Amino acid sequence: MIDRRAFLTFLAGSPLLAAFPDLPAFAQATAGGLEQAAHALDVFDFEAAAQKLVPPAHWGYLMSGVDGEATLRANREGFDRYQLRPRRFVNVSRIDLSVSLFGQTYSSPIAMSPIGSAGAFYADGEKAAAAAARTRNQLLMLSTQATFPVEDVIKARGGPIWYQLYTTNNMDVTRRLVKRAEAAGCPVVAVTIDTPNGRNTVTATRLARTDTRQCSACHKDATGDRFEPRRGGNLGTKPMFAGIDTQGVTLTEASLTWDFVKRLKDMTSMKVVLKGLESGEDAGLAVQSGADGIIVSNHGGRSTETGRGTIECVAEVVAAVRRRVPVLVDGGFRRGTDVFKALALGANAVGVGRPYIWGLAAHGQQGAERVLDILNNELRLAMIGCGATSVKEITAASLIDRRKA
Ligand SMILES: Cc1cc2nc3c(=O)[nH]c(=O)nc-3n(C[C@H](O)[C@H](O)[C@H](O)COP(=O)(O)O)c2cc1C
Repeated sequence: MIDRRAFLTFLAGSPLLAAFPDLPAFAQATAGGLEQAAHALDVFDFEAAAQKLVPPAHWGYLMSGVDGEATLRANREGFDRYQLRPRRFVNVSRIDLSVSLFGQTYSSPIAMSPIGSAGAFYADGEKAAAAAARTRNQLLMLSTQATFPVEDVIKARGGPIWYQLYTTNNMDVTRRLVKRAEAAGCPVVAVTIDTPNGRNTVTATRLARTDTRQCSACHKDATGDRFEPRRGGNLGTKPMFAGIDTQGVTLTEASLTWDFVKRLKDMTSMKVVLKGLESGEDAGLAVQSGADGIIVSNHGGRSTETGRGTIECVAEVVAAVRRRVPVLVDGGFRRGTDVFKALALGANAVGVGRPYIWGLAAHGQQGAERVLDILNNELRLAMIGCGATSVKEITAASLIDRRKA
């Protein structure tokens, strides 16, 4: 007798899916071959499942880097530079993962980075991510490009979230976005400054060309272009732009310089965090300009090509900041040991992007929760291995830099 479950699992993992457009129904039935979120052993199990479930154009949007994707690869490869230095006979019977950021305590230093259009991967998108952040008490940052309005996402989180701001070419529109996030109760605005003027997401474009579905099914104003929703091209359909005349409005503004930090601070009572720095010089300028925090980020390998992995940028940023403001980092974090390394280099917290989206795509809220649980548990094990019982006890003494060893 054929085992139905084994058959469905086989089908879900089979290249047959590409040849027969109706077969994704089978993948859906088996959640991409991962029947229960709890079965996942690491975050890559969710990646494999999500790939079977997410249509090619949306998968390309999620996974793309820019150009030849050297920076995207560097984000992962950078972790190999560092090794852990275990310690023994420390009482590690209790491990405290909690951290505080701007007066708010979270159950671990793992945050959910802003991902635009999360509804492209799971219908409840950012609301389901927020529900996972609620049950696990993790920090969530909401994209300007979110599928749901900030008010709804705060409700699903049952507490404050950070608002990720994309500047626009119209300061009045930018101000309206900021004021709306502030009125909704966001304590922090994280302004993304790493993509001032365009990018070339080759993988996204290539995969979109293979997608036979109608773009208009997802993109209300689709013109037939098979690119990721163009920057500023469909702002009117994004909830955060509701009630705003988006005619002529484009996302990000190439002419902005450091004085924008003061303008933003004058505009809002929220803490202002800059997302997208990679150098000590810029970190110093950020603090000098009044930034309340820094997120070391290369946009998940989606901004400047042939840059360093973000983990390799942490030490110089931390040195320049001299503990005056918190430093977060994201880009390629897939293991608890990755997180541990960033904390040992002096970061206060770490963001993950794609992994929780893989979780959402495969199993909705439960999938995102499982991703957080896996990463938190791996971090806990790394702390045990290195004899650190709290996040504060994670120091450079636990790390070997192969370049210096
Ligand atoms: C599909 C996708 C959409 C993203 N959208 C945004 C966004 O709207 N705003 C933003 O500041 N960063 C955005 N990012 C960058 C993430 O916030 C984060 O920096 C990056 O994903 C971290 O790398 P990781 O995905 O390797 O964990 C996006 C990244 C991806 C992959």
